[in-house]
Amino acid sequence: MADPGDVRRPKRLSFPAGFFWGSATSAYQVEGGIENCDWAKLYPAGRACDHYNRYEEDLDLTKHLNQNAYRFSIEWSRIEPEEGKWNEREIAHYRKVIQSLRERKLEPFVTLHHFTSPQWFATKGGFEKQSNVFFFVRFATRLLQEYGDLVSFWITINEPSIYAYQGYFKGIWPPQKRSVVSSLRVARNLIAAHREVYKQFHSLRPDVNIGIAHNMYFFEPFHKHSPLDRFVVALCWRIWNDHILRQIKTCQDFVGLNYYFHGKLMFPGLQRNEKRIVSDIGWEVYSEGIYGILKRLRKYRLPIYITENGLADAKDKLRGDFIKDHLTWIHRAIEEGVDVKGYFHWSLIDNFEWEKGFGPRFGLVEIDYETLERKCRPSAHYYSEICKNNALVI
Ligand code: FCB
Repeated sequence: MADPGDVRRPKRLSFPAGFFWGSATSAYQVEGGIENCDWAKLYPAGRACDHYNRYEEDLDLTKHLNQNAYRFSIEWSRIEPEEGKWNEREIAHYRKVIQSLRERKLEPFVTLHHFTSPQWFATKGGFEKQSNVFFFVRFATRLLQEYGDLVSFWITINEPSIYAYQGYFKGIWPPQKRSVVSSLRVARNLIAAHREVYKQFHSLRPDVNIGIAHNMYFFEPFHKHSPLDRFVVALCWRIWNDHILRQIKTCQDFVGLNYYFHGKLMFPGLQRNEKRIVSDIGWEVYSEGIYGILKRLRKYRLPIYITENGLADAKDKLRGDFIKDHLTWIHRAIEEGVDVKGYFHWSLIDNFEWEKGFGPRFGLVEIDYETLERKCRPSAHYYSEICKNNALVI
């Protein structure tokens, strides 16, 4: 007979009051109809999820799922389709989006640059040219003037290191360059752009919150005690994770963390991940990594928002546990004094996954690309309960 003492009581992990529970998207991946940016010819996204026209429906869904925040990006090529020409209709469009968020009591987290740039900016050399930083800062400042009364949280740049790496080192994303020098230059200019926007924004509105969404890997040594493996790991932390954050240490109000990857490294740099669980696109699921990163982010003494975390899982077999496990580790970090203030799941809806197209399904909500019908996956309801209770039961 089972010993009644063995029955494990469910444990309730409560999150701090005022915690932001949300999900994230980006304009090019969901809106549709973006033809004037540097991605459009190489990797057309067509009508995508038609979020541009259906944002109210999508925000209703977000609300219905008990979320209280939403991260999205504003498409620069819509706002400034030609150099120095502002499209008032598009400016009004995003104002309506932000107002719709406010009406639903969803806190807007606005990204200014999420991988796409207007074609004219790309033609001018994009972020590879230091003098072009000016154009981005001008665009950003315009948005602050337009929406500053409604938006407190701004993310200047999404994943500067991924952007520099994929587009200028690996040559997969536009402008498909393969040059170490170019990628370093782009990273440097993105940092400069962020710093300048930070300065501008704070001089115009001292109370805004500005950060970047930084893609960080959880690196660890394959042989725990091997000095060589530990050396490689230390180097990777420094180059990939810490470099950018150090550069903007004095000009960010929060740390935005996008967590997807784990690297178990062996000298001289081989990756030896066990990959016990993988998503539909082969990315390893490694929830404890988020805890390891959060502990190390404590040294910045700033609030932390998980600006992205999620997986491609069309059948929704793993997503519920993925959310539960990551949140359990996040909760543990909070208990140990890390100031995490919000979590944004990637993504609200299935969307256009860059060079991979529409195959990968990252959404809490499934999209039927024929009919554009939205259908909540079971994990969306599971996450919704957590959001509602501001607590996770394990
Ligand atoms: C991140 C991107 C986001 C999405 C996820 C899966 O690197 O910021 O747009 O593509 O990966």
